[in-house]
Amino acid sequence: MPNVVLITGAAGWLGGLLAHALRDDPKTPDVQLILADIVEPKAPDGNKAVTIKADLTDKAQVEALFDTPLGIPDTVYCMHGIMSRGSEDDFELGLKVNIDSVRLLLETTRQKTPPGQLIKFIFTSSLAVYGGPLPEVVTPSTIATPEGAYGMGKLTSELLVNEYTRRGFIDGRILRLPTVVVRPGPPPPPPPPSSPVRGPFSPGCIRIIREPLKGLETTCPIGDSLASPELDSLAAWLASPQTTVRNFVIAKHVPASAFYPHTRVVYLPGFTATVRDELDALEKVAGKEVVQLVKFKDDPVNRRIVKSWPAKFDIEYPLSLGFVVDEGGMEPIVRQFKKDVEEGRA
Ligand SMILES: NC(=O)c1ccc[n+]([C@@H]2O[C@H](COP(=O)([O-])OP(=O)(O)OC[C@H]3O[C@@H](n4cnc5c(N)ncnc54)[C@H](O)[C@@H]3O)[C@@H](O)[C@H]2O)c1
Repeated sequence: MPNVVLITGAAGWLGGLLAHALRDDPKTPDVQLILADIVEPKAPDGNKAVTIKADLTDKAQVEALFDTPLGIPDTVYCMHGIMSRGSEDDFELGLKVNIDSVRLLLETTRQKTPPGQLIKFIFTSSLAVYGGPLPEVVTPSTIATPEGAYGMGKLTSELLVNEYTRRGFIDGRILRLPTVVVRPGPPPPPPPPSSPVRGPFSPGCIRIIREPLKGLETTCPIGDSLASPELDSLAAWLASPQTTVRNFVIAKHVPASAFYPHTRVVYLPGFTATVRDELDALEKVAGKEVVQLVKFKDDPVNRRIVKSWPAKFDIEYPLSLGFVVDEGGMEPIVRQFKKDVEEGRA
């Protein structure tokens, strides 16, 4: 039997990378992909794939994902969503996409599961579920108390995935991702007011690496100048796209019995970097004159959201499950992104 994998949010950044990674996974050489997104997704060359343009807030369009020539998927990657600032700025849209449509997908997966099978349901969550007073180092038992609509939506959906797993409706796996850097492409244009889609918006400092490496000026939303103490105190929990996507593939292969019995939540390994670390890495890789392309304009909404997220985690549990971590911090990531820019991939 070939492996059939459904990816929602497949036209997005990580969904697109995952489709390629699954195609190249030696453990499933015959994988077949069902790729769905509200924007027409693009299939990677090689394996059999079906692409579907679908609004996943609509029941009929969700049901159609289980009615393709590829049949019922054995794994669902639930990755569509409205990103952090998008769901903070448009509360109703965030609820509809980040909670209601995830519930719809869970319930449809349950209804469509053939007797005697259990579909793996891999949900991409975020460290935005954390907030409030946090310990110096987050552990698997740290309670998640989000301080934003995005984190609240992710946490609500996590509870549903856990409950559906406990009841034996699905085999859920919940991945709390670090902030993934460096996102390629220009910042998305503002969507038309009637559109249900918001482009991705990261409150992190991706633009302070990406735009300067493309020779463009950019604005750092944290601090007022290169001397600002905020650059040293504001830290983030980061991972490269390569490692993140590798971990998505690993998530499919972790035996169900390896997870804690009471929860399927796993935060993925990452590393801690301050805004200053990011700028230092940029200087090392590209030189001082490139760092001078970074201008500063403090954005209190960004700062508040990012500050509420933890920046240090104990990664013993995710490592014990077989997940992997970036070695070497920001510098190799900036180097890789510079190469991607030079070779036209970013
Ligand atoms: N990129 C990160 O740093 C990061 C960090 C933590 C968690 N995550 C999570 O990982 C997942 C993928 O992130 P990404 O960076 O690739 O996001 P992305 O914004 O690039 O992709 C999300 C996709 O969801 C699609 N979408 C939105 N509403 C939809 C709808 N109603 N119906 C169908 N599709 C819809 C969008 O069109 C988009 O292609 C998301 O669940 C995100 O919350 C990402």
